[in-house]
Amino acid sequence: MSRRIPAYQPIRSFNPFIMKPINVGLLGIGTVGGGTFTVLKRNQEEITRRAGRGIVIRMIADRDVEKARRIAGDDVIITADANEVVTNLDIDIVVELIGGYTIAKELTLKAIENGKHVITANKALLASHGTEIFAAAQKKGVMVAFEAAVAGGIPIIKALREGLTANRIEWIAGIINGTSNFILSEMRDKGLTFDTVLKQAQKLGYAEADPTFDVEGIDAAHKLTIMAAIAFGIPMQFNKAYTEGITRLTREDIRYAEELGYRIKLLGITRRTAKGIELRVHPTLIPARRLIANVEGVMNAVVVKGDAVGATLYYGAGAGAEPTASSVVADLVDVTRMHTADPKHRVPHLAFQPDLLSDTPILAMEEVETSYYLRLRVMDKPGALADITRVLADLGISIDAMVQKEPSEGEDQVDIIMLTHLAIEKNINAAIAKIQKLPLMTGKVTRIRLEELNSK
Ligand code: NDP
Ligand code: HSE
Repeated sequence: MSRRIPAYQPIRSFNPFIMKPINVGLLGIGTVGGGTFTVLKRNQEEITRRAGRGIVIRMIADRDVEKARRIAGDDVIITADANEVVTNLDIDIVVELIGGYTIAKELTLKAIENGKHVITANKALLASHGTEIFAAAQKKGVMVAFEAAVAGGIPIIKALREGLTANRIEWIAGIINGTSNFILSEMRDKGLTFDTVLKQAQKLGYAEADPTFDVEGIDAAHKLTIMAAIAFGIPMQFNKAYTEGITRLTREDIRYAEELGYRIKLLGITRRTAKGIELRVHPTLIPARRLIANVEGVMNAVVVKGDAVGATLYYGAGAGAEPTASSVVADLVDVTRMHTADPKHRVPHLAFQPDLLSDTPILAMEEVETSYYLRLRVMDKPGALADITRVLADLGISIDAMVQKEPSEGEDQVDIIMLTHLAIEKNINAAIAKIQKLPLMTGKVTRIRLEELNSK
């Protein structure tokens, strides 16, 4: 006798479309704020089904009320005073998309104080004041979500905090500033100048309000600080990050690196070592065969090495209106779900319980061990190379590869390019100081760090 299997009946205890929607207050309707408004409106029906109830932007604060009105229309309350949003009793979630440390911090803390959940894309704010903000949120029992703060549209926070939670994270290396990657790509592919490409990045809405944050590695260091905190269970320590940007890179270095089989990328690297945690942002040579070496334009990519999973790679748009909005709206859905379902059981802000953070030290840059690309300009005379290699040998630095360029016609100086094996930064610093004093040296030594990024 055959038994009848009952057809699957989805259990529907409520209708998300008739539940009271979650009310959102948006602070700042610029690049990301505008993208957030558009994506939320365009995908409203699907988002409601995913979140379990509607998510509606009820109020917007922006300095430019006319602009906000043009984007949002007449159904939204618009004000120039952001305080009205964070204190409004009807607002459940405040989305902070103003940027900067001052007004954004004040408004975020005020929103928390008023019992609002907060979503922000502001990595500068979190990397510098995250500890204080998370403590305030914890005390008040509200959420602070920040997926958009790192790597734009890539859900890297969720991957680190949830998807990879079984792993002991060993290291993270990422191209996490879209503007500088865009500049490096366009300079290399189209031969454009630094300033021209930076202007394009600003026009496209990729750059920070102060673009030196992008090109000097500060923005990448903000993002790296956040990822390190989540990966290793340490407090935010942006002030201990080593930061070096792309402004001193030359076309020659980019070309020489290519000749040696490498690409130069601005990388953020954080690594657990026996002595402490490396936290560093700098231009880095990467073997051209690595996937991450081929990440171009505004795209970002993050490699995370976990002990169980091995190396995993996350790739996507790192900046821009809608890619970043994708992360902001994902946070809106997450917060709505948790707010609606079970607000007591939420993932801690930094993945680890706040009273269980570790005090593993951040390593001083001098203690970091990596390989190096060195470019030296010397007089084309016998003995120049021997003097240099002696300095390196005396400091225990061994050479992995070397190229001596032919001098151009009529020139009496040559470039020597060296790749070293692993060496300690303080030894390289000492070697560079000594080499620079050699009589046959004619310019400053260029040093770019090199990472093999092996998955072993
Ligand atoms: P924008 O400058 O484009 O937008 C900020 C908006 O906030 C502007 O409309 C600005 O008005 C408004 N504003 C400034 N001060 C106030 C204030 N006191 N009250 C109300 N409104 C105010 O910045 P983005 O959208 O590019 O960046 C927003 C945040 O997102 C930043 O923290 C940034 O780091 C982060 N982010 C940006 C990404 C991107 O691709 N752009 C990607 C990931 C994160 P006005 O124009 O008049 O100054
Ligand atoms: N200015 C940042 C970048 C925006 O270029 O990556 C995204 O965080």
